[in-house]
Amino acid sequence: MSNYHIKHLEEYFQVYRKSVRNPELFWSEIAEEHFLWRKKWDNVLDWDFSKPEVKWFDGAKLNITENCIDRHLYVRGDKTAILFEPNNPEEAAEHITYNQLHERVCKFANVLKTKGVKKGDRVCIYLPMIPELAISVLACARIGAIHSVIFAGFSATALATRVNDCEAKMIITSDGSYRGSKTIDLKGIVDEAVEQCPGVESVLVAKRINTDVKMKSGRDEWLQPLLDKADANCIPEVMDAEDPLFILYTSGSTGKPKGMMHTTGGYMVYTAFTFKNVFQYREDDIYWCTADIGWITGHSYIVYGPLANGATTVMFEGVPSYPDYGRFWDIVQKHKITQFYTAPTAIRALAKENLDYVTKYDLSSLKVLGTVGEPINEEAWHWYNDHVGQKDCPIVDTWWQTETGGILISPIPFATPTKPTYATLPMPGIQPTLMDESGNEIIGNQVEGRLCIKFPWPSIARTIWGDHNRYRDTYFSAFKNKYFTGDGALRDEVGYYRITGRVDDVIIVSGHNLGTAPIEDAINEHPAVAESAIVGFPHDIKGNALYGFVILKETGESRDRDNLSKEVNQQITERIGPIAKLDKIQFVPGLPKTRSGKIMRRILRKIASNDTSDLGDISTLLNPEIVEEIIDELAFVTPVKK
Ligand code: WTA
Repeated sequence: MSNYHIKHLEEYFQVYRKSVRNPELFWSEIAEEHFLWRKKWDNVLDWDFSKPEVKWFDGAKLNITENCIDRHLYVRGDKTAILFEPNNPEEAAEHITYNQLHERVCKFANVLKTKGVKKGDRVCIYLPMIPELAISVLACARIGAIHSVIFAGFSATALATRVNDCEAKMIITSDGSYRGSKTIDLKGIVDEAVEQCPGVESVLVAKRINTDVKMKSGRDEWLQPLLDKADANCIPEVMDAEDPLFILYTSGSTGKPKGMMHTTGGYMVYTAFTFKNVFQYREDDIYWCTADIGWITGHSYIVYGPLANGATTVMFEGVPSYPDYGRFWDIVQKHKITQFYTAPTAIRALAKENLDYVTKYDLSSLKVLGTVGEPINEEAWHWYNDHVGQKDCPIVDTWWQTETGGILISPIPFATPTKPTYATLPMPGIQPTLMDESGNEIIGNQVEGRLCIKFPWPSIARTIWGDHNRYRDTYFSAFKNKYFTGDGALRDEVGYYRITGRVDDVIIVSGHNLGTAPIEDAINEHPAVAESAIVGFPHDIKGNALYGFVILKETGESRDRDNLSKEVNQQITERIGPIAKLDKIQFVPGLPKTRSGKIMRRILRKIASNDTSDLGDISTLLNPEIVEEIIDELAFVTPVKK
């Protein structure tokens, strides 16, 4: 018997030891017993972190949608696979059974085929959280096309950059989207983007908000009439375990976004295994992850992980504050949610509101609570535990990344004793280690260092699309033979891990990873700006907010600073999206730089956090006097007006 479902702590330690002693045996047993393969693998694992190259289940053949849909049809065809909760609570929820999901995915897959999409082609999906999003993802996987979902909050420029980077020939979108009381013109954004995307041949448009949109003939088509005509059966493309499944973009500290490429077999096995254990999923559960499928959390723990286990997975179109701050809890009560998985930023935002928004709902169906995306502070953890979990639901603080594909460090509920702010222990097969700055492994407990992983796991990203050198440089060059996460962590006296945050120039704002360089590039394009530097500063809801230090080309008071600040944010909104807007902007005469011309962000971070008592050694600066000048102006910096 494989160790697919861990139920108590001793079992966890046993399984963990086995997974480390013999990873190949461990993962091959799980893969063999719990999934449908058209052909078994020749090799469980080939790896070499110096190249870097990782292959799991090489030679095996499968289709992930057969595992996520077809194999459930006999046993649970009428069970709800996707439970769609619309933005407007008055609109009825939609229960899509496994049988219906099968039909809708097959039809969609056939539409893709008739539009000329073939195995290996890239398809970009720019959709709100409506069923078509999950269905189009699965339809791509059905025919072996590589999906690249782009979060529908990104701007036209950001969309175009990603579409061009992966050379997608098709974009799937909708006329628009609902977001609380607002609507967003998604099709308009796509039109603007496609002007810069010569490789895009077709745009499929789902109807959601029923607005009049411009359809360009020969390029744009409404989805529904095509689906109506499509055949309800589509034979799944037989894929190699190492064939690409998707590309998902994430921000790097420098340069353009990184298209993390995930492959099929290992990703499926790992996300399914971790879903089962981290959420202690049982057949009748109703599981809800509030993430957007535009991020990795949605890929792995709304779509693939839950469906591979035959679960009911909720997709929520709206926002936590609409029609009021009780919406999440209203949904928990309405659908009797058993596992609820969200981000610390949402918890903090809701904890600020009146407690009545929580207490008036019956949350007794909940069994497990999860958090992901950034460190959860102690106060938010307790609020979540006391008021949502009513001290009766273990909180799984799950640490992982777009690059890792699945959860790497997390408690296993009812087995691992939880500890506020700690992600606790590694999943089976995961070998974390802490490194010091000179590249030595830090042994023992009660230590802090840079978090690395020593051994491959099945769902590690295989490359950055089109740039394998960057993949190597970013993740495998800082520490020899180790995957470097970019995060700092500490290990307590019992070996529990606590993630302390990024150690590079990525800033996590409301759970979204933002690289400083692309934002600075966007600001520097403003005609009045000479140079800029972005740092994060603590924010009680967003976790971090952005603070921009901006040098203008012409100094003097000739320009209205308030207006200029608004223009800078406008510029960022156009280049990246509203999620990257700055909370504060300080116009400065210069930036603290080292003699080699590097901006000393350490100092700027302290200034932005209003913590100027101990700036450390600034004598190595080229221009130490600038620090005082910046601090003197600090009192006059106000938040950027909307
Ligand atoms: C951070 C999200 C602390 C971390 C799945 C990581 C966390 C980055 C946690 C990846 C957590 C994620 N505690 N920090 N439980 N989960 N992070 O790629 O800095 O959007 O490197 O993947 O989020 O973000 P990404």
